[in-house]
Amino acid sequence: MASILIIDDERAIRNVLKDILNNEGYTTVEASDGEAGLAQFSAGNFDLVLCDIKMPKVDGIEFLQKAKDINPDVPIIIISGHGNIETAVDAVKKGAFDFISKPPDLNRLLITIRNAMDKTTLVKETKVLRKKVSRIQEIIGESTPIQKIKETIEKVAATDARVLVTGENGSGKELVAKWLHEMSNRSQGPLIEVNCAAIPSELIESELFGHEKGSFTSAVKQRIGKFEQAQGGTLFLDEIGDMSLSAQAKVLRALQEGKITRVGGDKEIAVDVRVVAATNKDLIKEVEAKNFRLDLYHRLGVILIHVPSLNERREDIPLLVQHFIEEIAKEYGQTPKAIAAGAVELLKKHNWTGNIRELRNVVERLIILSGKEIQATDVKSYI
Ligand SMILES: Nc1ncnc2c1ncn2[C@@H]1O[C@H](COP(=O)(O)OP(=O)(O)OP(=O)(O)O)[C@@H](O)[C@H]1O
Ligand SMILES: [Mg+2]
Repeated sequence: MASILIIDDERAIRNVLKDILNNEGYTTVEASDGEAGLAQFSAGNFDLVLCDIKMPKVDGIEFLQKAKDINPDVPIIIISGHGNIETAVDAVKKGAFDFISKPPDLNRLLITIRNAMDKTTLVKETKVLRKKVSRIQEIIGESTPIQKIKETIEKVAATDARVLVTGENGSGKELVAKWLHEMSNRSQGPLIEVNCAAIPSELIESELFGHEKGSFTSAVKQRIGKFEQAQGGTLFLDEIGDMSLSAQAKVLRALQEGKITRVGGDKEIAVDVRVVAATNKDLIKEVEAKNFRLDLYHRLGVILIHVPSLNERREDIPLLVQHFIEEIAKEYGQTPKAIAAGAVELLKKHNWTGNIRELRNVVERLIILSGKEIQATDVKSYI
Protein backbone atom coordinates (compact mmCIF):
# COMPACT_ATOMS: atom_id res chain seq x y z
CA MET A 1 0.00 0.00 0.00
CA ALA A 2 1.44 3.36 -1.01
CA SER A 3 1.74 6.04 1.64
CA ILE A 4 1.15 9.74 1.07
CA LEU A 5 2.19 12.74 3.12
CA ILE A 6 -0.38 15.57 3.13
CA ILE A 7 0.92 19.01 4.09
CA ASP A 8 -1.62 21.83 4.35
CA ASP A 9 -2.39 24.37 7.04
CA GLU A 10 -6.15 24.17 6.44
CA ARG A 11 -7.64 21.35 8.40
CA ALA A 12 -10.67 21.14 6.09
CA ILE A 13 -8.47 20.52 3.04
CA ARG A 14 -6.45 17.90 4.89
CA ASN A 15 -9.64 16.11 5.90
CA VAL A 16 -11.04 16.06 2.38
CA LEU A 17 -7.77 14.76 0.91
CA LYS A 18 -7.40 12.18 3.65
CA ASP A 19 -10.91 10.80 3.08
CA ILE A 20 -10.46 10.55 -0.67
CA LEU A 21 -7.06 8.93 -0.46
CA ASN A 22 -7.95 6.47 2.30
CA ASN A 23 -10.97 5.50 0.25
CA GLU A 24 -8.67 4.69 -2.65
CA GLY A 25 -6.54 2.48 -0.42
CA TYR A 26 -3.63 4.86 0.26
CA THR A 27 -2.35 5.38 3.78
CA THR A 28 -1.89 9.01 4.76
CA VAL A 29 0.07 11.07 7.24
CA GLU A 30 -0.74 14.75 7.82
CA ALA A 31 1.28 17.82 8.69
CA SER A 32 -0.10 21.31 9.29
CA ASP A 33 2.85 23.35 8.05
CA GLY A 34 6.06 22.99 6.03
CA GLU A 35 8.28 22.58 9.04
CA ALA A 36 6.27 19.70 10.47
CA GLY A 37 6.04 18.32 6.93
CA LEU A 38 9.82 18.29 6.58
CA ALA A 39 10.20 16.49 9.90
CA GLN A 40 7.72 13.83 8.78
CA PHE A 41 9.35 13.61 5.37
CA SER A 42 12.83 12.95 6.68
CA ALA A 43 11.59 10.45 9.24
CA GLY A 44 9.16 8.55 7.04
CA ASN A 45 9.28 6.56 3.88
CA PHE A 46 6.67 8.16 1.63
CA ASP A 47 5.75 7.31 -1.93
CA LEU A 48 4.34 10.75 -2.64
CA VAL A 49 3.75 14.18 -1.08
CA LEU A 50 0.81 16.57 -1.52
CA CYS A 51 1.87 20.02 -0.44
CA ASP A 52 0.15 23.40 -0.12
CA ILE A 53 2.04 26.55 -1.16
CA LYS A 54 1.06 29.19 1.38
CA MET A 55 1.78 27.91 4.86
CA PRO A 56 3.26 29.33 8.04
CA LYS A 57 6.92 28.71 8.96
CA VAL A 58 8.24 26.80 5.94
CA ASP A 59 6.22 27.42 2.75
CA GLY A 60 5.59 24.97 -0.08
CA ILE A 61 8.47 26.13 -2.30
CA GLU A 62 10.97 25.91 0.53
CA PHE A 63 9.62 22.50 1.47
CA LEU A 64 10.02 21.35 -2.13
CA GLN A 65 13.63 22.45 -2.32
CA LYS A 66 14.60 20.89 1.00
CA ALA A 67 12.71 17.68 0.32
CA LYS A 68 14.43 17.31 -3.07
CA ASP A 69 17.78 17.49 -1.25
CA ILE A 70 16.70 14.78 1.18
CA ASN A 71 15.22 12.42 -1.39
CA PRO A 72 14.86 13.54 -5.01
CA ASP A 73 12.99 10.37 -5.99
CA VAL A 74 9.75 11.07 -4.08
CA PRO A 75 7.29 12.92 -6.32
CA ILE A 76 5.75 16.09 -4.86
CA ILE A 77 2.40 17.43 -6.07
CA ILE A 78 1.67 21.05 -5.23
CA ILE A 79 -1.81 22.14 -4.20
CA SER A 80 -2.31 25.75 -5.14
CA GLY A 81 -4.96 28.31 -4.27
CA HIS A 82 -6.38 30.69 -6.89
CA GLY A 83 -3.95 33.44 -5.99
CA ASN A 84 -0.76 31.51 -6.58
CA ILE A 85 -0.94 29.59 -9.87
CA GLU A 86 2.26 31.32 -10.97
CA THR A 87 4.08 30.07 -7.91
CA ALA A 88 2.75 26.60 -8.65
CA VAL A 89 4.14 26.74 -12.19
CA ASP A 90 7.43 27.87 -10.73
CA ALA A 91 7.33 24.89 -8.34
CA VAL A 92 7.00 22.50 -11.27
CA LYS A 93 10.05 24.13 -12.84
CA LYS A 94 11.87 23.55 -9.55
CA GLY A 95 11.10 19.84 -9.55
CA ALA A 96 7.51 19.36 -8.38
CA PHE A 97 5.77 16.59 -10.34
CA ASP A 98 2.67 18.68 -11.06
CA PHE A 99 0.17 20.96 -9.36
CA ILE A 100 -3.56 20.84 -8.80
CA SER A 101 -5.69 23.80 -7.84
CA LYS A 102 -7.95 24.22 -4.86
CA PRO A 103 -10.57 23.04 -4.35
CA PRO A 104 -9.08 19.78 -5.61
CA ASP A 105 -10.96 18.06 -8.41
CA LEU A 106 -11.26 14.44 -7.30
CA ASN A 107 -10.58 12.78 -10.67
CA ARG A 108 -7.73 15.03 -11.63
CA LEU A 109 -6.14 14.49 -8.22
CA LEU A 110 -6.27 10.71 -8.44
CA ILE A 111 -4.99 10.62 -12.03
CA THR A 112 -2.10 12.90 -11.16
CA ILE A 113 -1.19 10.73 -8.18
CA ARG A 114 -1.29 7.58 -10.29
CA ASN A 115 0.87 9.15 -13.01
CA ALA A 116 3.42 10.28 -10.45
CA MET A 117 3.64 6.81 -8.90
CA ASP A 118 3.94 5.13 -12.32
CA LYS A 119 6.75 7.46 -13.22
CA THR A 120 8.65 6.75 -9.99
CA THR A 121 8.38 3.01 -10.56
CA LEU A 122 9.73 3.48 -14.08
CA VAL A 123 12.62 5.61 -12.88
CA LYS A 124 13.49 3.02 -10.25
CA GLU A 125 13.34 0.17 -12.75
CA THR A 126 15.54 2.05 -15.19
CA LYS A 127 18.11 2.63 -12.46
CA VAL A 128 18.21 -1.09 -11.63
CA LEU A 129 18.48 -1.99 -15.31
CA ARG A 130 21.27 0.46 -15.87
CA LYS A 131 23.19 -1.02 -12.99
CA LYS A 132 22.77 -4.51 -14.44
CA VAL A 133 23.90 -3.48 -17.90
CA SER A 134 26.89 -1.54 -16.69
CA ARG A 135 28.21 -4.30 -14.48
CA ILE A 136 31.55 -5.06 -16.04
CA GLN A 137 33.23 -8.36 -16.58
CA GLU A 138 35.25 -9.56 -13.62
CA ILE A 139 38.94 -10.14 -14.27
CA ILE A 140 39.21 -13.91 -14.05
CA GLY A 141 42.51 -15.53 -13.08
CA GLU A 142 44.64 -16.36 -10.08
CA SER A 143 48.07 -16.48 -11.70
CA THR A 144 50.74 -14.24 -10.20
CA PRO A 145 50.68 -11.66 -13.04
CA ILE A 146 46.88 -11.37 -12.88
CA GLN A 147 46.95 -10.94 -9.11
CA LYS A 148 49.56 -8.23 -9.54
CA ILE A 149 47.43 -6.47 -12.15
CA LYS A 150 44.40 -6.48 -9.84
CA GLU A 151 46.52 -5.06 -7.01
CA THR A 152 47.92 -2.34 -9.25
CA ILE A 153 44.41 -1.40 -10.42
CA GLU A 154 43.27 -1.09 -6.81
CA LYS A 155 46.25 1.08 -5.92
CA VAL A 156 46.20 3.47 -8.84
CA ALA A 157 42.51 3.66 -9.78
CA ALA A 158 41.72 6.32 -7.19
CA THR A 159 44.61 8.54 -8.26
CA ASP A 160 44.52 10.60 -11.44
CA ALA A 161 47.80 9.06 -12.61
CA ARG A 162 47.89 8.25 -16.31
CA VAL A 163 48.13 4.58 -17.08
CA LEU A 164 49.56 2.90 -20.17
CA VAL A 165 48.24 -0.62 -20.67
CA THR A 166 50.24 -2.90 -22.96
CA GLY A 167 49.64 -6.45 -24.12
CA GLU A 168 48.85 -8.64 -27.11
CA ASN A 169 45.55 -8.69 -29.02
CA GLY A 170 42.65 -9.92 -26.95
CA SER A 171 44.65 -10.17 -23.74
CA GLY A 172 42.32 -7.92 -21.74
CA LYS A 173 43.72 -4.39 -22.04
CA GLU A 174 40.32 -2.78 -22.45
CA LEU A 175 39.01 -4.68 -19.45
CA VAL A 176 41.85 -3.23 -17.36
CA ALA A 177 40.96 0.27 -18.57
CA LYS A 178 37.30 -0.27 -17.64
CA TRP A 179 38.22 -1.35 -14.13
CA LEU A 180 40.54 1.62 -13.69
CA HIS A 181 37.56 3.85 -14.44
CA GLU A 182 35.06 1.81 -12.44
CA MET A 183 37.20 1.86 -9.30
CA SER A 184 38.14 5.53 -9.56
CA ASN A 185 36.45 8.57 -8.06
CA ARG A 186 35.37 9.34 -11.61
CA SER A 187 33.16 6.28 -12.01
CA GLN A 188 30.02 8.46 -12.02
CA GLY A 189 31.52 10.41 -14.90
CA PRO A 190 31.81 9.15 -18.47
CA LEU A 191 34.29 6.61 -19.81
CA ILE A 192 34.95 7.69 -23.38
CA GLU A 193 36.83 5.42 -25.74
CA VAL A 194 38.72 6.41 -28.86
CA ASN A 195 40.15 3.79 -31.16
CA CYS A 196 43.07 5.72 -32.59
CA ALA A 197 43.76 3.03 -35.22
CA ALA A 198 40.26 3.24 -36.68
CA ILE A 199 40.25 6.98 -37.36
CA PRO A 200 41.93 8.40 -40.48
CA SER A 201 44.80 10.67 -39.48
CA GLU A 202 43.20 13.76 -41.03
CA LEU A 203 40.11 13.31 -38.86
CA ILE A 204 41.69 12.37 -35.56
CA GLU A 205 42.20 15.93 -34.41
CA SER A 206 38.57 16.85 -34.84
CA GLU A 207 37.57 13.54 -33.24
CA LEU A 208 39.68 14.25 -30.15
CA PHE A 209 39.31 18.01 -29.81
CA GLY A 210 36.13 18.77 -31.75
CA HIS A 211 35.73 21.52 -34.31
CA GLU A 212 33.85 24.73 -34.90
CA LYS A 213 31.29 24.98 -37.66
CA GLY A 214 32.92 25.79 -41.00
CA SER A 215 36.47 25.12 -39.84
CA PHE A 216 36.96 22.81 -42.83
CA THR A 217 34.86 21.79 -45.83
CA SER A 218 32.91 18.95 -44.23
CA ALA A 219 32.54 20.70 -40.85
CA VAL A 220 28.90 21.64 -41.35
CA LYS A 221 28.11 21.63 -37.64
CA GLN A 222 30.03 22.33 -34.48
CA ARG A 223 31.35 19.15 -32.91
CA ILE A 224 32.36 18.37 -29.34
CA GLY A 225 35.47 16.19 -29.24
CA LYS A 226 36.23 13.18 -27.10
CA PHE A 227 38.37 15.15 -24.63
CA GLU A 228 35.42 17.40 -23.84
CA GLN A 229 32.98 14.48 -23.80
CA ALA A 230 35.14 12.80 -21.17
CA GLN A 231 34.96 15.88 -18.90
CA GLY A 232 34.96 14.68 -15.27
CA GLY A 233 35.62 11.12 -16.35
CA THR A 234 38.16 8.96 -18.13
CA LEU A 235 39.39 9.08 -21.73
CA PHE A 236 40.56 5.71 -23.03
CA LEU A 237 42.95 6.14 -25.96
CA ASP A 238 43.01 2.66 -27.45
CA GLU A 239 45.68 1.62 -30.00
CA ILE A 240 47.65 4.74 -29.16
CA GLY A 241 50.65 3.29 -31.06
CA ASP A 242 48.77 3.93 -34.30
CA MET A 243 48.29 7.65 -33.77
CA SER A 244 49.88 9.99 -36.31
CA LEU A 245 52.81 12.14 -35.20
CA SER A 246 50.89 15.36 -35.73
CA ALA A 247 48.02 14.12 -33.54
CA GLN A 248 50.58 13.00 -30.94
CA ALA A 249 51.87 16.56 -30.71
CA LYS A 250 48.36 17.88 -30.05
CA VAL A 251 47.62 15.22 -27.46
CA LEU A 252 50.89 15.99 -25.73
CA ARG A 253 49.91 19.64 -25.47
CA ALA A 254 46.49 18.75 -24.10
CA LEU A 255 48.08 16.56 -21.43
CA GLN A 256 50.70 19.14 -20.50
CA GLU A 257 48.32 22.05 -20.21
CA GLY A 258 45.04 20.40 -19.34
CA LYS A 259 43.50 22.55 -22.07
CA ILE A 260 42.33 21.95 -25.60
CA THR A 261 41.28 24.09 -28.52
CA ARG A 262 38.64 22.95 -30.99
CA VAL A 263 39.79 22.78 -34.62
CA GLY A 264 39.06 26.19 -36.14
CA GLY A 265 38.37 27.66 -32.71
CA ASP A 266 40.40 30.17 -30.72
CA LYS A 267 39.01 29.56 -27.23
CA GLU A 268 41.04 27.41 -24.86
CA ILE A 269 38.87 24.94 -22.99
CA ALA A 270 40.04 23.43 -19.71
CA VAL A 271 39.50 19.69 -19.55
CA ASP A 272 39.41 17.62 -16.38
CA VAL A 273 40.08 14.19 -17.81
CA ARG A 274 42.02 11.16 -16.68
CA VAL A 275 43.75 9.48 -19.61
CA VAL A 276 44.28 5.74 -19.89
CA ALA A 277 46.01 4.55 -23.06
CA ALA A 278 46.53 1.07 -24.51
CA THR A 279 48.56 -0.50 -27.26
CA ASN A 280 49.64 -3.91 -28.51
CA LYS A 281 52.78 -2.36 -29.97
CA ASP A 282 56.14 -2.12 -28.26
CA LEU A 283 56.17 1.65 -27.84
CA ILE A 284 59.88 1.81 -27.01
CA LYS A 285 60.60 0.22 -30.39
CA GLU A 286 58.19 2.69 -32.00
CA VAL A 287 60.08 5.52 -30.31
CA GLU A 288 63.38 4.17 -31.68
CA ALA A 289 61.83 3.93 -35.14
CA LYS A 290 60.70 7.57 -34.75
CA ASN A 291 57.04 6.63 -35.04
CA PHE A 292 56.22 7.63 -31.49
CA ARG A 293 57.24 10.66 -29.45
CA LEU A 294 59.33 9.86 -26.41
CA ASP A 295 57.92 12.80 -24.43
CA LEU A 296 54.38 11.57 -25.05
CA TYR A 297 55.40 8.06 -24.04
CA HIS A 298 56.59 9.42 -20.68
CA ARG A 299 53.47 11.54 -20.22
CA LEU A 300 51.15 8.61 -20.87
CA GLY A 301 53.02 5.92 -19.01
CA VAL A 302 53.19 7.27 -15.48
CA ILE A 303 51.97 3.83 -14.46
CA LEU A 304 52.64 0.90 -16.77
CA ILE A 305 50.43 -2.17 -16.70
CA HIS A 306 51.50 -5.04 -18.87
CA VAL A 307 48.84 -7.68 -19.44
CA PRO A 308 50.61 -10.99 -20.08
CA SER A 309 49.57 -13.18 -22.98
CA LEU A 310 47.46 -16.22 -22.21
CA ASN A 311 50.40 -18.48 -23.17
CA GLU A 312 52.35 -16.93 -20.28
CA ARG A 313 49.69 -17.82 -17.73
CA ARG A 314 48.27 -21.12 -18.77
CA GLU A 315 47.37 -21.95 -15.19
CA ASP A 316 44.42 -19.53 -15.56
CA ILE A 317 42.96 -21.48 -18.49
CA PRO A 318 40.81 -23.95 -16.48
CA LEU A 319 39.21 -21.07 -14.52
CA LEU A 320 38.61 -19.07 -17.69
CA VAL A 321 37.12 -22.07 -19.51
CA GLN A 322 34.73 -22.75 -16.63
CA HIS A 323 33.80 -19.08 -16.49
CA PHE A 324 33.05 -18.89 -20.22
CA ILE A 325 31.07 -22.15 -20.17
CA GLU A 326 28.82 -20.65 -17.49
CA GLU A 327 28.60 -17.25 -19.11
CA ILE A 328 27.71 -18.62 -22.55
CA ALA A 329 25.16 -21.05 -21.08
CA LYS A 330 23.50 -18.09 -19.39
CA GLU A 331 23.38 -16.21 -22.68
CA TYR A 332 21.74 -19.18 -24.40
CA GLY A 333 19.45 -19.86 -21.44
CA GLN A 334 20.83 -23.40 -21.07
CA THR A 335 22.43 -25.31 -18.22
CA PRO A 336 26.23 -25.21 -18.43
CA LYS A 337 27.84 -28.17 -20.24
CA ALA A 338 30.35 -30.38 -18.47
CA ILE A 339 33.89 -30.60 -19.79
CA ALA A 340 36.20 -33.62 -19.47
CA ALA A 341 39.56 -33.16 -17.72
CA GLY A 342 41.35 -34.33 -20.88
CA ALA A 343 39.68 -31.57 -22.89
CA VAL A 344 40.84 -28.92 -20.42
CA GLU A 345 44.38 -30.32 -20.59
CA LEU A 346 44.41 -29.91 -24.37
CA LEU A 347 43.13 -26.35 -24.09
CA LYS A 348 45.92 -25.61 -21.63
CA LYS A 349 48.49 -26.72 -24.21
CA HIS A 350 47.14 -24.84 -27.23
CA ASN A 351 49.06 -21.88 -28.64
CA TRP A 352 46.68 -18.95 -27.97
CA THR A 353 47.73 -16.24 -30.42
CA GLY A 354 44.39 -14.48 -30.01
CA ASN A 355 44.53 -14.77 -26.21
CA ILE A 356 41.35 -14.55 -24.13
CA ARG A 357 39.16 -13.46 -27.02
CA GLU A 358 40.22 -16.56 -28.96
CA LEU A 359 39.68 -18.79 -25.92
CA ARG A 360 36.14 -17.51 -25.50
CA ASN A 361 35.36 -18.15 -29.17
CA VAL A 362 36.75 -21.67 -28.96
CA VAL A 363 34.69 -22.43 -25.85
CA GLU A 364 31.56 -21.14 -27.56
CA ARG A 365 32.27 -23.32 -30.62
CA LEU A 366 32.81 -26.37 -28.39
CA ILE A 367 29.54 -25.78 -26.55
CA ILE A 368 27.63 -25.61 -29.83
CA LEU A 369 29.31 -28.54 -31.57
CA SER A 370 30.00 -31.10 -28.85
CA GLY A 371 27.63 -33.59 -27.23
CA LYS A 372 26.49 -33.66 -23.61
CA GLU A 373 30.03 -33.33 -22.30
CA ILE A 374 32.90 -31.56 -24.07
CA GLN A 375 35.55 -34.23 -24.79
CA ALA A 376 39.24 -34.13 -25.72
CA THR A 377 38.28 -35.41 -29.19
CA ASP A 378 35.99 -32.35 -29.62
CA VAL A 379 38.90 -30.06 -28.81
CA LYS A 380 41.08 -31.88 -31.35
CA SER A 381 38.49 -31.56 -34.10
CA TYR A 382 37.29 -28.01 -33.52
CA ILE A 383 40.36 -26.05 -32.55
N1 LIG B 1 40.94 -11.87 -17.22
C1 LIG B 1 39.81 -11.94 -17.92
N2 LIG B 1 38.74 -12.57 -17.41
C2 LIG B 1 37.60 -12.65 -18.11
N3 LIG B 1 37.41 -12.13 -19.32
C3 LIG B 1 38.44 -11.48 -19.88
C4 LIG B 1 39.68 -11.35 -19.21
N4 LIG B 1 40.52 -10.65 -20.00
C5 LIG B 1 39.83 -10.38 -21.12
N5 LIG B 1 38.58 -10.86 -21.06
C6 LIG B 1 37.57 -10.78 -22.12
O1 LIG B 1 38.21 -11.07 -23.36
C7 LIG B 1 37.77 -10.18 -24.39
C8 LIG B 1 38.95 -9.42 -24.95
O2 LIG B 1 39.44 -8.52 -23.97
P1 LIG B 1 39.79 -6.98 -24.29
O3 LIG B 1 38.87 -6.43 -25.31
O4 LIG B 1 39.91 -6.27 -23.01
O5 LIG B 1 41.22 -7.20 -24.93
P2 LIG B 1 42.21 -6.16 -25.61
O6 LIG B 1 43.55 -6.44 -25.05
O7 LIG B 1 41.68 -4.79 -25.46
O8 LIG B 1 42.15 -6.63 -27.12
P3 LIG B 1 42.59 -5.83 -28.47
O9 LIG B 1 44.07 -5.71 -28.44
O10 LIG B 1 42.12 -6.74 -29.56
O11 LIG B 1 41.90 -4.52 -28.44
C9 LIG B 1 36.72 -9.31 -23.77
O12 LIG B 1 35.46 -9.87 -24.04
C10 LIG B 1 37.02 -9.37 -22.27
O13 LIG B 1 35.87 -9.17 -21.50
MG1 LIG C 1 41.10 -3.45 -27.00
